[in-house]
Amino acid sequence: CGIVGYIGSRDAYPIIINGLKRLEYRGYDSAGFILNYSEGMEVVKTKGKVADLETKSEGKKLSANIGVGHTRWATHGEPNDVNSHPHVSTNGEIVLVHNGIIENYDSIKTKLQEEGFTFQSETDSEVLVNLIEYFKKSENLDLAEAVRYALNEVVGAYAIAVLDNSNTDEIVVGRLGSPLAIGMGDNEFFIASDASPFVEFTKDAIYLEDGEMASISRENGVVVKKIVENEIISPSIQKLHLDLEQIEKGGFEHFMLKEIYEQPKSIHDTMRGRLLPEEGIIKMAGIWDHMEKFRNAKRIIIVACGTSWHAGLVGEYLIEEFARIPVEVEYASEFRYRNPIINKDDIVIAISQSGETADTLAALKLAKANGAFIYGICNVVGSSIARLTDAGSFTHAGPEIGVASTKAFTSQLTILTLIALKLGKHNGNLSNEKFMSLCYELESLPTKVEKALKTDALVQEISEVYKDAKNALYLGRGYNFPTALEGALKLKEISYIHAEGYPAAEMKHGPIALIDENMPVIVIAPKKGHYDKVVSNVQEIKARKGQIIAVVTEGDEQVKNIADHVIEIPDCSEEFSPILASIPLQLLSYHIAVMLDRNVDQPRNLAKSVTVE
Ligand code: G6P
Repeated sequence: CGIVGYIGSRDAYPIIINGLKRLEYRGYDSAGFILNYSEGMEVVKTKGKVADLETKSEGKKLSANIGVGHTRWATHGEPNDVNSHPHVSTNGEIVLVHNGIIENYDSIKTKLQEEGFTFQSETDSEVLVNLIEYFKKSENLDLAEAVRYALNEVVGAYAIAVLDNSNTDEIVVGRLGSPLAIGMGDNEFFIASDASPFVEFTKDAIYLEDGEMASISRENGVVVKKIVENEIISPSIQKLHLDLEQIEKGGFEHFMLKEIYEQPKSIHDTMRGRLLPEEGIIKMAGIWDHMEKFRNAKRIIIVACGTSWHAGLVGEYLIEEFARIPVEVEYASEFRYRNPIINKDDIVIAISQSGETADTLAALKLAKANGAFIYGICNVVGSSIARLTDAGSFTHAGPEIGVASTKAFTSQLTILTLIALKLGKHNGNLSNEKFMSLCYELESLPTKVEKALKTDALVQEISEVYKDAKNALYLGRGYNFPTALEGALKLKEISYIHAEGYPAAEMKHGPIALIDENMPVIVIAPKKGHYDKVVSNVQEIKARKGQIIAVVTEGDEQVKNIADHVIEIPDCSEEFSPILASIPLQLLSYHIAVMLDRNVDQPRNLAKSVTVE
């Protein structure tokens, strides 16, 4: 979910609506806002998108200069008007927006019902707003204290913003597990789940830490406190390095397409200042400062979710090949709940675009508690995972807004390549000659990505042929097995066509039964690695009349003779081929989704940043 708020002297409504649009990637099942006036408040909320909220607001009084808004990804209760945020307490005094989950809401609800509180929705959030009202009344507290009391009672995760109907000069916020930033203007303040809603107003921000809350008012400014200890602290104000144009579509029809096309630049940015072949080095302070740890590591465990997990699989191949350190890749959600064996000499690497994914964060905390050295690969600077880890490397891909990850993925692959090469060089597994030739090749990768993007028109034609398919199979071997998984995920995420990724050789142990003349099979077959084996797999598919779309190295003849369509990518070492092969696969899913009239940037039921487990 996303939270945005404003207190100052401007109109809060447009700031809230624009902010919610920028945060819609965090959830878009429903949206709402509260504006606070001395003569009473205006609460508008609706199932659907922020655009629906705007329609519903027409004709309402929208001129307050304090308010908060919310865009929701449903956890408790289906997405409907009643379950939408903000939630108002029983007596109408307190209003709250909440991102996260209150785990002990049921027992609190029962107690509050005994005290005469009533509930309209099925949400855990409505329990919290009533608990705040309960403490305010029964203990005769001011708003901030009542919030603090309530937060000390709840178990779970949250970012919240709370207003008191009778006070038009205060917003109280709190954080545990879900992010919250406060934008510091000139006698005006912004709050948001990330800084994007307020970049055009201020570049100064406070990021609340877990267990902190703040009272924000024009009169007293921002007062930050520790929730449990009840201690006032002075937070550090950070400078934002985010421009408006980075979070706008810049002439593209969708963020996803813009982000696909940004990849030559984003990959270059990932390598910038790190890959220095002329000096014969890869500069990465996060690795270099802890080289002893990496040298002595018995094993590396990579934890991640979704697309980042796919990047982790490629990372396993890269690190094992170049650095010969054993690597295991785990879904963060499985790892954390299965009592994993974690040793002191293990290094746990988390990969996360957002740096906020709840399962990945929890897996890291577990690893840390067990004494492992924890390393982060994140895109978002200042994110929770980035702050928790002992060391790390940012991918620097720039803000990724489309829910389906594209440029963040190829930047993750790039950073994993840099790490693997650096480790291999320093632990003696990679000869200097090999290291240098791979570094020079890596340097030319953005240009090759540029070329791979030229397949766009052809991919669009192919998309036209297969857009009505009900299923699709993606096959690859070695480094391109994860590419197949990621290609299939892209298609299902945004077009809702069922797709599966498989190691090409495993096909004969099951999926081959699905193949007939209606089944498109996307085969990733660059002319490296196990090319001949993949060619045999392609023949097996053709023998069963499958429709073959092959991603091949330019100039390929063998697969061309068998496949129905070939998409050519530039020649490169096998280790880099997942980056180049992913480009046409991203474009394929993009075009099919557009042709099917899907909401490409905000596919149904998904969210970009999943801060619930
Ligand atoms: C969500 C997103 C995916 C992403 C996954 C992990 O499911 O929709 O695109 O891969 O979370 O997110 P992270 O931010 O940890 O990489």
